[in-house]
Amino acid sequence: MVIAIASQKGGTGKSSTSISLAAGLAHLGKKTLLIDIDSQANSSKVLLHNYQSLKPDNTIYRTIMRPTTERAPLPIHQTLVPNLSVVPSHILLADTDIRLTTAIDHREARLKTELDQVKADYDFILIDCPPTLSWSTINALTAADKVIVTVAPGYFELDSIVQISKTIEQVHEYFNPQIELLGFLFTMSDPTITTQTSLKILRQTYTQRVLQTIIPRNTDLRDAHFNRQDIFSFNPEAKAARAYRMLISELFHL
Ligand SMILES: Nc1ncnc2c1ncn2[C@@H]1O[C@H](COP(=O)(O)OP(=O)(O)OP(=O)(O)O)[C@@H](O)[C@H]1O
Ligand SMILES: [Mg+2]
Repeated sequence: MVIAIASQKGGTGKSSTSISLAAGLAHLGKKTLLIDIDSQANSSKVLLHNYQSLKPDNTIYRTIMRPTTERAPLPIHQTLVPNLSVVPSHILLADTDIRLTTAIDHREARLKTELDQVKADYDFILIDCPPTLSWSTINALTAADKVIVTVAPGYFELDSIVQISKTIEQVHEYFNPQIELLGFLFTMSDPTITTQTSLKILRQTYTQRVLQTIIPRNTDLRDAHFNRQDIFSFNPEAKAARAYRMLISELFHL
């Protein structure tokens, strides 16, 4: 199963959710691949300790920048976590939009074309998307079976759901009739009134589409990533680790 983690709003917990879900599944013995398609390369930097020495050709850059007619196998790297591999991103991917806007081949399907070659080798494949509605995001949504939209507390975050929902609908119509919303995931939750009001509005507006599991604001998650570890390796008893464990149980009954 290929799952994209998306939202075009910055800082809503996409990378943290991608890393935690991928590591959580790997810790449960599931063969997992995390694809980083955001030029900020946040999840690549946490999970691959040799990240700084990687050339663009060892990253997803080569997959996205080559025309669909040329083979560019996915550059898959094993991480220190058993069962978890990563396809890292690269800062040069920031130019993707300009380059792909003029491409005439199936520019939306470059990731999908290569992912289809290795899909059967993994139990779960997760894609960490950039905070933009770009060709990178379109590539991720075209390759995905499901999408999780992360939502952080706040007015603009709720507002941005309308836009990402439209993008998912458009990808569904033009590029990928398979794609399905797994749900909206409320992240960085705390007991403040603003946060609780955001959650209430989200649940009232999107009812069944809001996932039951809520990810709490938890500094262990930041500390884990600062130490270049996933939350389960860093502190399996952390509140965030428990929440992501519950999310895995809710989504996959594992
Ligand atoms: N549950 C949480 N509790 C506390 N801090 C969190 C939590 N989730 C994420 N963060 C922190 O919030 C910041 C943004 O999170 P993250 O990088 O996961 O978001 P993102 O949506 O991937 O951002 P971007 O849009 O820039 O890619 C990071 O510093 C991260 O460590
Ligand atoms: Mg990110």
